[in-house]
Formats: sequence, C-alpha cells, structure tokens
Amino acid sequence: MTELLKLSDVWVEYGDKIVLEQINLTIEEGAFVSVIGPSGAGKSSLLRLALGQEAPSRGKIMLDGVPLPPECGPDRGVVFQHYSVFPHLSALGNVMFGLECAQSPLLAKLSGAARRQAREEASQMLEEVGLQDNMHAYPAQMSGGMQQRLAIAQALIKRPRILLLDEPFGALDPGIRNDMHQLITRLWSDYELTVIMVTHDIGEAFKLGTRVLTLDKWRHDPHAPHRYGAKVVYDIPLTRKREETSEDGIAATAPTNPSDEGGITIDRIDNN
Ligand SMILES: Nc1ncnc2c1ncn2[C@@H]1O[C@H](COP(=O)(O)OP(=O)(O)OP(=O)(O)O)[C@@H](O)[C@H]1O
Ligand SMILES: [Mg+2]
Repeated sequence: MTELLKLSDVWVEYGDKIVLEQINLTIEEGAFVSVIGPSGAGKSSLLRLALGQEAPSRGKIMLDGVPLPPECGPDRGVVFQHYSVFPHLSALGNVMFGLECAQSPLLAKLSGAARRQAREEASQMLEEVGLQDNMHAYPAQMSGGMQQRLAIAQALIKRPRILLLDEPFGALDPGIRNDMHQLITRLWSDYELTVIMVTHDIGEAFKLGTRVLTLDKWRHDPHAPHRYGAKVVYDIPLTRKREETSEDGIAATAPTNPSDEGGITIDRIDNN
C-alpha cells in the first residue's frame, strides 16, 4: 500500500486554544477513513488541514512524500453536511462550474468546444450519481439527498484522488442515507478514491470505513479547558477492503482488535 497523506506531530492552535495536538497519522492510498469524536474535537479542523485550507501551527503534512501545497488543489475534493451547491445554478451548471474552475481558474468560463466537452463530462457525472433526470433542476427543487448527490458530483468532476466528507449524510433520513452509503462505496471503488469522512454516526463509521479514527481530548485541565487539544485516541483497522466490495456496494465488516494489526491504542484518561 502506498502512503498518500502523512501528518507528523501536527498541532492546530488558535491563539492560546489548542484544538489538535500531536497528530501522527499515515493514510494509505485507497483507504476509507472514518473520523468520529465529540463536537468540538477538531474533526472539521483535521479535514481543513488535509484540504490545505488551513496550515498546521506546528508539524508537517506530506502528500505523496512532498509538503502539501498551501491551497486546495484539484487532487482534493470536499463535500460538507450543509449543501455546498450554488442555489442560482442548475445541477448541470453546478457541476460545470466545478470543472470550469479547475480548468480555467481565473475566468471560470469556458467557450466553444471546451464548453461542450465540459457539458458532456458534467452530464455523465450527474448520471453517475443518479441525477440524470434532474440535470436542469435548481437546488431549491431538490431533496436533501439529491443536493448531496449533486455536491458529490461537483467534487468528483475535478477527478480528485482524495475525497473529504464532513458529515455528508448527517441531515438525511435513514433510508436515503443507506442509498448514499451505496453510492459513495461505488464511487470510492470506481474512481479509486481515498476517502476521509467525518461522521457522528458510529454505525456509519464502521459500515463504510476501512479504518475508524477517534479524535478526543486525552487530558483535561478543568481550570483551562482550552489548554489541551484532541488527538487520535483510537485507531481501529477494519477488515473491509475496496476490492472486496460486494454488488450492492457494501462489504461485511468486522472490527479487528486494534492491538492485533499494529493499530494504535492510547490509554484514555477518563475526564468525568
Ligand atoms: N478560526 C477559528 N478560531 C478559533 N477557534 C476555532 C476556529 N475554528 C475552529 N475553532 C475551534 O476549534 C475547535 C474544533 O472545531 P472543529 O470545527 O474542528 O470541531 P468538530 O470536531 O468538527 O466539531 P463538530 O462535531 O461540532 O462539527 C472548536 O472548539 C472551535 O471553536
Ligand atoms: Mg465539524
């Protein structure tokens, strides 16, 4: 397995508030990493680091063995919980916009043959996510699940290698969420993606991930709660592999004992 993303002794601090501390993490190409942890633990901060939207206050982040570029490149796509699509553009317009930005970042407008090509690619991508009948619909005319499909299409049109998902299905009904699980599993496999997904749903984390990370504070100063940050307190490897994904997109997963496969287990300090 190839090492794709590597964080070495990474810290995130805002003034004297420490959010993340001592993050040492290697993510292999093709992994589906689920990230769980309490609210405020720094899960979104970790995604912003991987996206290059934010630089660590200390430590090093390497992508493919070279320092991560300081801005979000086309190799990384992102989908947030709250629909991140443009309300004034149709589905096709939203996906084409993603492509236009990648190809012509200054003008964000393609012309002639390049535009026709972009339209073709965008409609194929909408078909991939099941929105072939809604190409001309506007986000306000779409359900939450459809808007998330659209956001995924918009992220994938740039052909990222890493897809970052921040509670992407958190606002969806269980049935719809299940459909989204199948969709994301298929895309992970077909597009050979490496996925990092933050979720509050532990079942979802274990169902989809090849690995589950838990971020939490591991020490606590009751007089100065901002003084210590969260780190990876559990790193649980699962047996799920991309290649083993079944027809319906979901493979059976069984958590293995973290200590069996070199997973890191750090003794937790119970703060209660
Ligand atoms: N720009 C900022 N300035 C100061 N503090 C910040 C900033 N961004 C994030 N924080 C703080 O960092 C901490 C971690 O935030 P983050 O959004 O990463 O948490 P999270 O784990 O994603 O939480 P949630 O589950 O609620 O989404 C929070 O206490 C937040 O207030
Ligand atoms: Mg968050």
